[in-house]
Amino acid sequence: MAKSPLIESFERAGQGHVFAFFDQLAPADQQRLLADAAEIDLAEIEQLTRTLLAKGAATGINLDGLAPAPYEPRPEHGGDAPAWASAKIAGETALRAGRVAAFTVAGGQGTRLGYDGPKGTYPVTPVKKKTLFQVFAEKILAAGVRYGKPLHWFIMTSHANHAATEAFFTEHAFFGLDRGRVHFFRQGRMPAVDLNGKILLETKASIAMSPDGHGGSLRALDRSGALDLMAKEGIDILSYFQVDNPLVRGIDPTFVGWHVLGGSEMSSKMVAKAYAGEKVGHFCTQNGQTLVIEYSDLPKEYQEEIDPATGKLRYLAGSIAIHILDTHFIRRMAAGGEGVALPFHRADKKIPTVDAAGNPVKPDKPNGVKFEMFVFDALPFAKNPVIIETRREDDFSPVKNAEGLDSPKTCRDDQIRQFVRWLKANGASVPADATGLAPFAIEVSPTFGYDEDSFADAWKKLSPKPEIKDGLYLSA
Ligand code: UTP
Repeated sequence: MAKSPLIESFERAGQGHVFAFFDQLAPADQQRLLADAAEIDLAEIEQLTRTLLAKGAATGINLDGLAPAPYEPRPEHGGDAPAWASAKIAGETALRAGRVAAFTVAGGQGTRLGYDGPKGTYPVTPVKKKTLFQVFAEKILAAGVRYGKPLHWFIMTSHANHAATEAFFTEHAFFGLDRGRVHFFRQGRMPAVDLNGKILLETKASIAMSPDGHGGSLRALDRSGALDLMAKEGIDILSYFQVDNPLVRGIDPTFVGWHVLGGSEMSSKMVAKAYAGEKVGHFCTQNGQTLVIEYSDLPKEYQEEIDPATGKLRYLAGSIAIHILDTHFIRRMAAGGEGVALPFHRADKKIPTVDAAGNPVKPDKPNGVKFEMFVFDALPFAKNPVIIETRREDDFSPVKNAEGLDSPKTCRDDQIRQFVRWLKANGASVPADATGLAPFAIEVSPTFGYDEDSFADAWKKLSPKPEIKDGLYLSA
């Protein structure tokens, strides 16, 4: 039988070992391996090996001309209150016009949490133990009601969790959303390579493939037809958030408004870093462009530098992975072209593989490299990027780790603190410690109130007011 051209192309690229066990495989396994291989852009791998893996490859980033990026401070921090008010009105107008859709990236592997299943199916709320997906679904549902336009919701999955994610939504009747407005699509994958750039097999019949990072969402939105659907529906504003952060105001009229009024192609929220070494990306400018530099790439002296004018950290603005993207910008990024592409980042990992005899190997130290793109790397390409300040407690408490920082426990407490703040702001008396945490669990369903304003409206109408005690659950 003639050798497949695909196998020949791997041999020519010095990756022929991928098919070392091909002749031993059953036909179905052979097909599977060929399908994995067909996803790989060999020229891209060759180029990444040359640039990111080669000995002496540039490490570290260029710091020439680096400065902190400007941002719009909140009114209580000296920001322009009328401009914030105008932004809110502009955002509400865009929402009423149906220009906005929600977008959740949910293709990650969630290794740190160590939960078996799509991360969005993880229960997070204090009383009802609603899952992350349910929280977002109810916020999106409620925002649709508030602005008189049901929203579309795009959810990026991975090969590994796509079927389970769809099944979860079906099982839960899409949490009351119109299923015609919930769209799942898979992100791309990249092969892992060893430290010499050789593609790693996971088993004799499969390549070690993993999701291409949240930055892969830009090309996946295009390839999946999602952008065409948005164009058809009159959507040009995509509100991006991550699956692990139930506090996020996924639909925030003020943020939408800043984006619209700024003529921005990509907008971001920042929070003041909690301490110099906090592990968040830093919003910076360089050569007239806006960019995010990861904490691991920014030298310690920059992270700790104090601005003499304010007495605060000079690189204060931390990225919390909340963005708004203009759909035309996404299309331009996905199309690529001269110099227009998100860079890949290298992550050294322990990658289960097989040895030369085909026996499984579970490495105890990093044996290879995964390549990922990050969505914030699109910022330097965006026209008029806008960065606004947000209060961390209103927007950010991710579930990343099983315990400790950014864990289910810290996220539960932050949700309770938010409900306590909303109640107190509306005149209710709630016992709370110095951090604002109640001594018991309470919960507000997004269908009752999903942000300060919607909560205030619902609370005003509520009669009689409930007793605030352990297990209180407010819902529409
Ligand atoms: P993280 O950086 O926290 O990665 O993703 P992760 O894979 O979920 O978790 P760990 O590092 O293995 O513990 C941040 C967000 O980006 C999404 C995740 O689903 C999460 O919403 N993401 C990440 C993708 O959609 N695709 C990816 O390839 C990577």
